[in-house]
Amino acid sequence: MSIHIGAEKDAIAPIVLLPGDPLRAKRIADELMRDLQTYNTVRGMLGFTGMMPVPDMGEVRVSVQGSGMGMPSLSIYVNELFNSYGVKTVVRVGTCGALQDGMRPGDLVIAQGACSDSNLNRRRYRGMDFAPLADADLLFAAIRAARARGEPVRVGNVLSTDLFYADHDPDEWKMWAASGVLAVEMETAELYTLAARKGRRALSILTVSDVLPTGEAMNAQERETSFHHMVGLALAACFAG
Ligand code: HPA
Repeated sequence: MSIHIGAEKDAIAPIVLLPGDPLRAKRIADELMRDLQTYNTVRGMLGFTGMMPVPDMGEVRVSVQGSGMGMPSLSIYVNELFNSYGVKTVVRVGTCGALQDGMRPGDLVIAQGACSDSNLNRRRYRGMDFAPLADADLLFAAIRAARARGEPVRVGNVLSTDLFYADHDPDEWKMWAASGVLAVEMETAELYTLAARKGRRALSILTVSDVLPTGEAMNAQERETSFHHMVGLALAACFAG
């Protein structure tokens, strides 16, 4: 058991899918997994382990864990997954706000790297920069899997922000957009940093839920199907040759 995850040592699989929303973790588990075990209910941050079908591989043992919103929350769960449960691979499946013209609700984004306005890495790296990156094998495997499925995907930088409501400067996102940043979300920079520091593998696969340049947003139906797409890609990436 760790402080925020009430699981026995071997109750969590080496590969963990990580949605922000714990109820999304439950839906992924209920709809896509067999032989389910609920290993965490502490603070309602649900975690499940079960068997999932992967094409050409039969069934594989995978866990799905809510991370909560924002980097401090994700940091607690991912630290404990790495340090107390020996997790080797974490794939975030989440949503993001698109920053570039031409992007649409429902588009898939794979985060190659993550900028951040957070202070977390400035504290860790004594005021200097660290460039949080996806695991290269997972990244390439996810791109290949998306192409093989004919699912268009954008690959590049994202912004992991601490401020969902950036009312101090509603146009600040344009600064990041002008440097090619594809989308804004709130977790990936910390996930990639922790994976780098612990020698583990991480990837963020994101669906565009809202588009900042136009104000468009994903409808409920698109939200549902997007998580199935992301989980399919995540598993294909994790179990690629
Ligand atoms: N901002 C921050 N995080 C997000 C957004 C957004 O617009 N959309 C989805 N996650």
